[in-house]
Amino acid sequence: MGVMGRLIMMMMPVTPKFIVGWVAKRYVAGTDLESAMRVMRSMKSQDTCFTLDVLGEEITNLEEAEYFVGEYHRALNAIVAEGMDANISVKPTAFGLLIDEKKALENIENITSVAAKNNIFVRLDMEDHRVTQSTIDIVTEMHDRGLTNIGTVLQSRLFRTSDDIFSLASRLDGNSDVRICKGIYLESEDIAHTRYHDIVVATNKAIDELLDSGAYTAIASHDLPVINHAIAALDERGMGPKTADPRENAGPERIGKGPGYEFQMLLGVRGNIRRKLAKDGHRTRVYLPYGSRWYEYSMRRLRENPDVAWHVAKSIIMPWTNRR
Ligand code: FDA
Repeated sequence: MGVMGRLIMMMMPVTPKFIVGWVAKRYVAGTDLESAMRVMRSMKSQDTCFTLDVLGEEITNLEEAEYFVGEYHRALNAIVAEGMDANISVKPTAFGLLIDEKKALENIENITSVAAKNNIFVRLDMEDHRVTQSTIDIVTEMHDRGLTNIGTVLQSRLFRTSDDIFSLASRLDGNSDVRICKGIYLESEDIAHTRYHDIVVATNKAIDELLDSGAYTAIASHDLPVINHAIAALDERGMGPKTADPRENAGPERIGKGPGYEFQMLLGVRGNIRRKLAKDGHRTRVYLPYGSRWYEYSMRRLRENPDVAWHVAKSIIMPWTNRR
């Protein structure tokens, strides 16, 4: 982390909320669903689709989960009403995963079945190592119950990820759908890579493994060594823009998805690279968080991974490195 990033970290607790809000505005669509819909409408011309995320996680009592269930219902209704090319991303701990797994499963099933009726995909975001296995288990359980419109995220920094890729592929029989990312949580070196170079190598290997496993592969990175590797890996396998997925183990065609893969980026980060990918014909998706809990979310992300502070600092000082 640079000096600037460290400085920002130290300043965070005493920084007035309105300044944090001013910075967060770039990365968070707004405090409510209406703002999120407005941002999606305004970005439609960028030839991209979206995943809507209601900010919040790690609730402390199950009543709080009701807010998320209700808000995701509203989000699904709005996506359908406007015919928006969007799906949803969900944090399992916001539904109570760390309090009562059975109840969390019930809440997620509730949302996923409504989404299924409308051909909308549900992505379970991956949180820290405490919930890696239980998040994967929710996905396999939902598939067992006939809801195949759900997938999760694997974090390439974790040593276990290769095993998870192949076990999901064999368990879900052609319906595996994985977002691969580096992982935002700084996990211990007993279970994860901790150096940038090793994480990039592991990410590229995971992309290859996902493509070979037949999974729908959502490549979620803003890092050029990863994006360039992904493009080469797709090309090697005869995959690419406007080409039907040639993989024999790819399973059924997915509604609202690309030809076996897509690129995903966070709102406000490296839009110029995303637009270039879209211009080259790749399907791209913007992860669009919104909600009243933007302040807690921003502070927590910064505490968990100070690199984010450095990225934000860099994008303010050197805006050309990160065009929205
Ligand atoms: P890296 O961190 O090296 O970033 C490459 C460059 O992108 C930086 O140099 C900087 O210019 C820019 N950049 C990256 N992040 C930035 C930021 N916040 N602000 C400004 N510039 C930034 N993680 C997780 O654990 N569970 C999850 O479910 C998800 N979900 C998810 C969805 C999507 C769509 C994306 C893009 C990412 C995630 N992540 C995630 C986060 C992911 O694990 C990772 O922490 C970030 O994407 C940063 O890693 P990069 O591969 O982008 O590389």
